[in-house]
Amino acid sequence: MIKRTHNCGELRVMEEDQDVRLNGWVNTIRDQGKGLVFIDIRDRWGITQVVFELEACDEALVTEARSLRREDCIGIVGKVRRRDASSNPNMGTGHIEVVGGELVIYSRAQNPPILPDEHEAENMSEEVRLRHRSLDLRRPSMQSRLQMRHDLSALTREFFHRFGFMEVETPLLIRSTPEGARDFVVPSRVYPGKWYALPQSPQIFKQILMVSGCDRYMQICKCLRDEDPRADRQAEFTQIDLEMSFTDQDEVIKIMTSFLRRVMKDLKGMELGQIPQIPWQEAMDTWGCDRPDLRFELHLQDISDLAPDTGFKVFTSALEKDEGCVKAIVLPKAAKSFTRKKIDLLDETAKIHGAGGMPWVRWTEDGPEGGAAKFIAPIAEALQEKIGVQPGDIVVFGADSWETCVTALGQVRLRAGKLLSMLKGGWRACWVVDFPMFRWVEDRQRWVSEHHPFTAPRVEDLDRLESDPGDVLSAGYDLVLNGSEIGGGSIRIHDPEVQQRVFNVLGLTEEETQEKFGFLLEALKYGAPPHGGIAFGLDRLVMILTGTDNIRDVIAFPKTQSGADLMVESPGPIDEEQLEELRITVDTPEAETAEA
Ligand code: AMO
Repeated sequence: MIKRTHNCGELRVMEEDQDVRLNGWVNTIRDQGKGLVFIDIRDRWGITQVVFELEACDEALVTEARSLRREDCIGIVGKVRRRDASSNPNMGTGHIEVVGGELVIYSRAQNPPILPDEHEAENMSEEVRLRHRSLDLRRPSMQSRLQMRHDLSALTREFFHRFGFMEVETPLLIRSTPEGARDFVVPSRVYPGKWYALPQSPQIFKQILMVSGCDRYMQICKCLRDEDPRADRQAEFTQIDLEMSFTDQDEVIKIMTSFLRRVMKDLKGMELGQIPQIPWQEAMDTWGCDRPDLRFELHLQDISDLAPDTGFKVFTSALEKDEGCVKAIVLPKAAKSFTRKKIDLLDETAKIHGAGGMPWVRWTEDGPEGGAAKFIAPIAEALQEKIGVQPGDIVVFGADSWETCVTALGQVRLRAGKLLSMLKGGWRACWVVDFPMFRWVEDRQRWVSEHHPFTAPRVEDLDRLESDPGDVLSAGYDLVLNGSEIGGGSIRIHDPEVQQRVFNVLGLTEEETQEKFGFLLEALKYGAPPHGGIAFGLDRLVMILTGTDNIRDVIAFPKTQSGADLMVESPGPIDEEQLEELRITVDTPEAETAEA
């Protein structure tokens, strides 16, 4: 039996004349006739050229080599030979080849439905790739993403181990945790009519571990949220989950910042520059987003003081709204490259995000032109002074209630940044801090937590918890890298009385609180330490590290956009017997019954 002496990416000229044994898959086969066959053999580490030739082996072996097909799984024994004239400098192993002396075909591949070539993948539907994941994962780019994921996990465990964090596993079959999404639920056979919930995160467990004296906890864990997957979101995803006792916001931020710096340095060779802490209000006012992408400026600038002099109804009626405002973004030197089509794209973005439209002007030596120029003309000079617009620039405006205005312009900013090719290169991180504690939800007529209900209010705001909940800031923080929220956490409430007060603001009765979180309140009664923590989105970090904007590329077996696993075909039916055992009757929709 052939065993391995080297992997397929390893051999160099230094190994010339050595007898070696390689295992892998047939990546390419070139039959040159006249008893000469070249096979490229591939494994996770690379590709090596193997040559079977009559000069070095008998005819039967050459014939067997000629019978190979792509993706056959094989082992070879051979001798390393230097390639001179024919060397391939683009391949790590390109200066040698292995002259085959033995061949074992472990298993033949049927004609594969997809080939693990990079260029093939580009033209292939993702559905096909996901259905045939075993072949798709053979592609070198997929292998290297899985490798990066592993490297990140290994670094994470090593880093936090050194800081005294202990990995503790928390259960998967729990009861509902309030992270804001829907729960996945699992029926109980032993307790008919009762259900487990799968954890949206181990939040309550890690807090209870702090009460238990664990002091510093970490876990690389699965979180399950029944929400629609998006480009950077999966229903089943992985967190690097952390919690610390006897700590404060500054210390959590300090340790997590050094973790991120270490990740970027070790895995990307990048030194991160300064990582500012930006208050949430400033993030929203300046970047129109609570996860600002600092790689480019295009700041939102408030011009509400100038707007009344325009007489422009769009501006003046916005100012009449509750918390109405008018803001502008200067797109430097965009006048030349920005066609009407691009402006329409920005306008569409503004509308998708709730704005009525997006007034704009082109700036020339003679002031504003095009779009809303006639309204802007009366304030041209003051505007120029205020926002620093120059001839050749375009200015776009937002006018609405504060939230709609900044949200829509924030998205316009991102789209404009892309259109102006400003998003390329560089790594910029920031912390967003001082989040509001609560958000008012009009249609439910109640306050909800901006983070989760265990996040502590800032000490200085505690007195106003009941009297002015909308004005209370929390000890929550998010870590943002290149506009992506890679982590979020907070200092927690460790006083059961304060926790009960927060539940009250959220409109939970004492009964509801007891039913849902009685065990947490109970634990907090017995000497809970001050504590806080954070969770990083491991998948999102790997996406950033590997430069993909599709979360499914960094997960070995992901779900589709509609939450299905195409390989194992889940969700799938279960048989009648299982249903009976669980005492569940399924109300099958008519259409499905008809189809069946
Ligand atoms: P949060 O819900 O902010 O906090 O999640 C923490 C981080 O997890 C990532 N993330 C996701 N990644 C992929 N798909 C998703 N559906 C998804 N949802 C979240 C993000 C996010 O920053 N228990 C708290 C943490 C704490 O307070 O310590 C929590 O889960 O990168």
